[in-house]
Amino acid sequence: MKKTIRDFDLNNKKVIIRVDFNVPIKNQMITDDTRIKESLDTINYAINNNAKVILMSHLGRIKTKEDEIKNDLQIVSERLSKLLNKEIIFINATRGIELEKAINDLKCGDVLLMQNTRYEDLIDQKESSNDLRLGKYWASLGDIYINDAFGTSHRAHASNVGIATYLPSGIGFLIEKELKYLQPIINNPKRPFVVILGGSKVSDKIGVIKNLVNKADYILIGGGMAYTFLKASQINIGKSLVDEENIDFCKYVLENYADKIILPIDTVNVEKIEDSAATRQCFINEIKENEIGIDIGYNTLKLFKTYLEQSKTVIWNGPVGIFEIDSFSKGTRGLCEILKNISAVKIIGGGDTASAVINLGYKDCFDHISTGGGASLELLEGKKLPGIEVIEENEN
Ligand code: 3PG
Repeated sequence: MKKTIRDFDLNNKKVIIRVDFNVPIKNQMITDDTRIKESLDTINYAINNNAKVILMSHLGRIKTKEDEIKNDLQIVSERLSKLLNKEIIFINATRGIELEKAINDLKCGDVLLMQNTRYEDLIDQKESSNDLRLGKYWASLGDIYINDAFGTSHRAHASNVGIATYLPSGIGFLIEKELKYLQPIINNPKRPFVVILGGSKVSDKIGVIKNLVNKADYILIGGGMAYTFLKASQINIGKSLVDEENIDFCKYVLENYADKIILPIDTVNVEKIEDSAATRQCFINEIKENEIGIDIGYNTLKLFKTYLEQSKTVIWNGPVGIFEIDSFSKGTRGLCEILKNISAVKIIGGGDTASAVINLGYKDCFDHISTGGGASLELLEGKKLPGIEVIEENEN
């Protein structure tokens, strides 16, 4: 068990909280503030316990000066201020006298957010390469370090692994919740345990399939990646997406785990991927040469339902169709409808799947929607997450 924020006396302490405010921004507007909202419990707890709160986050990836302008955390600071109903002291710096003075002037209950930690990447990738001096410097600004950036915990950067090396450390409520739902899946899921995998590329899911194929009772496969599995089982997939390099892997999985891998039995196709394209549904062996599969069909949904109805645990990673286009989203929507009505523990593995279920209006139908796409995927692959590994153990 890792130490948590509850294990520390925060009174009058400078508490550095690493959050993941890497939120989508379009036309200078935050289009989804879930990650900010999910971090409020930890921030409020620190405020209510009289801490001087220092928030750190990355936003985007920084290679050029233009990237810096695009990924300025000021906009996040404003949204956070609204959500907390509190003034946020935003410091447009990641080091230096202005930042140090502002931190020294903090009063108990104040909240300071420093500029995007990845501004430090512009020269020598200091943040992303976990530059030891940078981690040590940031650690010198606080008394306690709390990691609540689950979405970044698969990275070993200066603002998570680096700082934690030099300060007493714990996890926040967001990471605690992520682990509460995701760890049993890896260690001891309630059975039947059903995994739904989608998304475009088989290559993105190889690690998950390898790790979960022995633990899951069934793996239901949809999305672009399903067509590579179908091709591996000698089905003509027309012009559908195919991951040629991984056909052999798919063949291996199908040969060795035939009873566990459930593939689509029908598909929705178009001749061109565009909003207005006419769709045609057919059984899987009827795909025409000029067609591209873009969604699972009605009969596949019925088939998947038979497995989901008996399940006790479901994790879903990867949309089963191109849900961003309304007429291609019926499979993903249909799956949400099925899951809405079953009583298993239902978890969404973050990333695109999280956006899909939130955008389609099914957020409340799931027990947990992970805030970390890459991080939850690595956890499901059986990997250790360095940003969490580095946190002190609770010896009691
Ligand atoms: C994410 O959005 O997956 C995390 O914030 C990590 O971002 P990164 O992939 O740029 O490291």
